[in-house]
Amino acid sequence: MYTDLVLDHFTNPRNVGEIEEADGVGEVGNPVCGDVTRISIAVGEGDVITDVKFKTFGCGAAVATSSMLTEMVVGKSLREAADVSNVAVAEALGGLPPKKMHCSNLAADALQAAIRDYLLRSGREAEIDEILASPPKAPEPSSH
Ligand code: FES
Repeated sequence: MYTDLVLDHFTNPRNVGEIEEADGVGEVGNPVCGDVTRISIAVGEGDVITDVKFKTFGCGAAVATSSMLTEMVVGKSLREAADVSNVAVAEALGGLPPKKMHCSNLAADALQAAIRDYLLRSGREAEIDEILASPPKAPEPSSH
């Protein structure tokens, strides 16, 4: 079942909300379950993420992974943050049940979308491929 850390991040999620006048916003949905995560970022000098907030309309695993992801990427450069995979977030939470691993894709994908949005807004589309890595994703289960 769920680790204490997953339950803690689910019942007391960190960095919930939306940054006003964010530098980048990303929203992704899971077509299988319909859950949605939205992440907004503020980017400072040296491409460092100075603030990040999330809103998740979704299951407990999606909320917990979104919450943990925000804690892991604040203070990181865009490049470093883009490298934080859903697997790394799940590991930081002490693991997720295998059937719930796909839920961790939402937060990682929404962050990537927010970084992409920031780069597009800043006229830096040429850097998107270089900055955005494509961490491996958890496959969708046939049912959950
Ligand atoms: S993200 Fe939809 S069931 Fe977890």
